[in-house]
Amino acid sequence: MTASKNIFVFACVFAFTLALFALSALAQPSKTPLANAERMNGYALGDYEAFWKRPDWHFVTVRYRRDSNEMRLTYANDIAWKALLAGGKEYPEGAVFGKVGLLTQDDPSFTSSAVPAGARRYQLMIRDKEKGKGTNGWAYALFDGRGKAAAEDQDIASQACWACHALVPERGEVFSQPIHMDISDTLPDPAVTPFAQAIPRVEFTTVKAETLPEKIRAKLPPKTETVRLVQGKLALNLFRGTIDEIRPTLARESLRAKMPAILMSVDGTLFSVVQVDDGKSCELTGGGKGVNVTAFYTTGTVPGKDSLIADHQYCEKK
Ligand code: HEC
Repeated sequence: MTASKNIFVFACVFAFTLALFALSALAQPSKTPLANAERMNGYALGDYEAFWKRPDWHFVTVRYRRDSNEMRLTYANDIAWKALLAGGKEYPEGAVFGKVGLLTQDDPSFTSSAVPAGARRYQLMIRDKEKGKGTNGWAYALFDGRGKAAAEDQDIASQACWACHALVPERGEVFSQPIHMDISDTLPDPAVTPFAQAIPRVEFTTVKAETLPEKIRAKLPPKTETVRLVQGKLALNLFRGTIDEIRPTLARESLRAKMPAILMSVDGTLFSVVQVDDGKSCELTGGGKGVNVTAFYTTGTVPGKDSLIADHQYCEKK
């Protein structure tokens, strides 16, 4: 009797411990270090091997980042392409976008022409209810130039990808639009291009410089009283990629508001600061006059610990 009671108590304690263990494992977000791993959010680059040259995929658009000289080519699989052409508000399960980020360099035989100099990164967005359930149905994946999963923490990175893509909800959280390359009788008018009337999406507010962490204040021009600070989801969920991507947006805001513009993580450990020097003009890479920009930003990959601060000076379009 006593022995069977003991076994019963033991079994109960064992089951309870097991349940607690399982529960705590569920409650812990998976902090998977991804450096050198093949997959992010269950997806490997090889799952859509060489999407940039597959006959069943479609070329969507090309974009160019002036400050980092990076060219981006975006492709869609057939499901994503059809949804995009149908207005791009809703994407069905299985829709995939792939983007290749290429470094460029001047062609030494004709320097005004920049030529691709190799892939720097690959990105995927897959419509997947299950794997994208924490990011509104899109599973995000980032790979370096060698095709290895590149985010240090896939949960923080995924939330950061989504925070930025969520800026365009009316486009199903997809930024790219197909380019119009068809022959037309009228020349394109820059005032009526699809993005001419688009409204800026990143929200800023003015804050006093004295409220900023000391390591930011120390680098701002002396006498800076106020700065423009990014608000909302984007500031709450960011990683290294956001710090890089946001620079042109900060430059635009700094030029408009005539004060430094900043994106900072809530704990102040990751940030990007841009100050446009309105006084001097400079020569843009593609010709024409621009303004001098001074940027400084943290080099850490995820918020939570202090990292080095890098500086960058370049010429930005007025
Ligand atoms: C700070 C903003 C921002 C962040 C963060 C961001 N993206 Fe994007 N993403 C863009 C923009 C803007 C485009 C449009 C193309 C371009 O400018 O390169 C884009 C385009 C894409 C595309 C092509 C489809 C589309 O929406 O146009 C994919 C795929 C993509 N991003 C994946 C990712 C992944 C994966 C992450 C996270 C690792 C991520 N993005 C993080 C802004 C962002």
